[in-house]
Amino acid sequence: MVTIAVTAEGADEPRVAISPETVKKYSALGATVKVQSGAGTRSHISDEALKAQGAQIVATKQDALKDADMLLAVARPSPEDVSQLKKGAIVAAILSPFDNREGLNALAGTGVSLFSMEFMPRITRAQSMDVLSSQANLAGYKAVVDAAYMFPRAFPMMMTAAGTVPAAKAFIMGVGVAGLQAIATARRLGASVSATDVRPATKEQVQSLGAKFVAVEDEEFLEAQTAAGYAKPMSAEYQAKQAELVASHIGNQDIVITTALIPGRPAPKLISKAMVESMKPGSVIVDLAAERGGNCELTEPGTTTTVGGVMIYGPINLASKLPVNASSLYAKNLYNFLETMFDKKEKTLAINWEDEVITGTLVAKDGSIVHPNLQNS
Ligand code: NAI
Repeated sequence: MVTIAVTAEGADEPRVAISPETVKKYSALGATVKVQSGAGTRSHISDEALKAQGAQIVATKQDALKDADMLLAVARPSPEDVSQLKKGAIVAAILSPFDNREGLNALAGTGVSLFSMEFMPRITRAQSMDVLSSQANLAGYKAVVDAAYMFPRAFPMMMTAAGTVPAAKAFIMGVGVAGLQAIATARRLGASVSATDVRPATKEQVQSLGAKFVAVEDEEFLEAQTAAGYAKPMSAEYQAKQAELVASHIGNQDIVITTALIPGRPAPKLISKAMVESMKPGSVIVDLAAERGGNCELTEPGTTTTVGGVMIYGPINLASKLPVNASSLYAKNLYNFLETMFDKKEKTLAINWEDEVITGTLVAKDGSIVHPNLQNS
């Protein structure tokens, strides 16, 4: 019998790694799910709702962790917590594997098999396990809604007897999962939308959402996408051309949502102080790359800075501001991944260590860090 533990997250993480839907699914696989009482409260998932689908609600964290075979978490758990699990247990979470290496080593040292959900390979089969996508999609939506809330004007064009309200102009920088949702949301609210990216594949996506594509489309641009679907760091020459283009475009924009990221690197700086100063007072920049240093030079992570009347908001963990959806999608991503580790007939764990989704996400096993992306740090 496989036992799965879910504990309450820390004070700054409202999400939870389980939902009533996934409790039911794990139970159908023959697993027992032990959830610390109150773990779902901040995602509006009650103990009763989890219990009704077969979860065992336990009073303390220790009760959930003791001798469990798996720990499902949102943020990186502590070595102390993990060491209470069964020897060689499985831990799946958003580990932020490039942050706090010493802490990661300590976690690996407990001997558990550590899986980092951010490392999920971007292959068709793993789309339903991709937490970066499920969470970035929500963040892209929320960034626009928050911008609309902060913006002292309306988004849609309105023709009234008293005069015409012009449509707001929104510019989305970085058209990955978050950027695409930001474009769609800004369009739904009635803004006139333009967007930029360095990957050529994004041009058609932007246009198909009814937005205008603005980018430096030189030879380097044509090569900017890696086999994994991510952007490459661009040359200094490209960055200079891009800055010139952005500088000429941004002064006319009311809302700018930035989402540009390159895996394992600080966020590229796309908006300079001078560019912010060229914008109209009352304009809003939402910098979704704030956690990784920000796409705007003036972003202060976790807060809003106002410069010349332009508000620059640098939210951290924005998806968690929609905890009901974020938890439900994250829990489902985890289930879709962990389900591959079960022998459905025997109702035991039977991990295929050669499987691409396993090798892609396995960070540590038997006491050492094993992931190729983490060997040099
Ligand atoms: P991301 O979060 O790493 O980056 C966001 C966006 O910023 C990307 O579109 C990137 O090209 C762009 N960017 C980077 N540097 C830039 C710069 N200097 N200027 C302008 N833009 C810049 O990317 P995300 O959202 O994770 O998605 C990357 C791709 O992977 C997308 O095409 C997405 O559709 C694809 N994908 C595939 C999946 C699958 O097949 N399982 C799952 C999820 C995403």
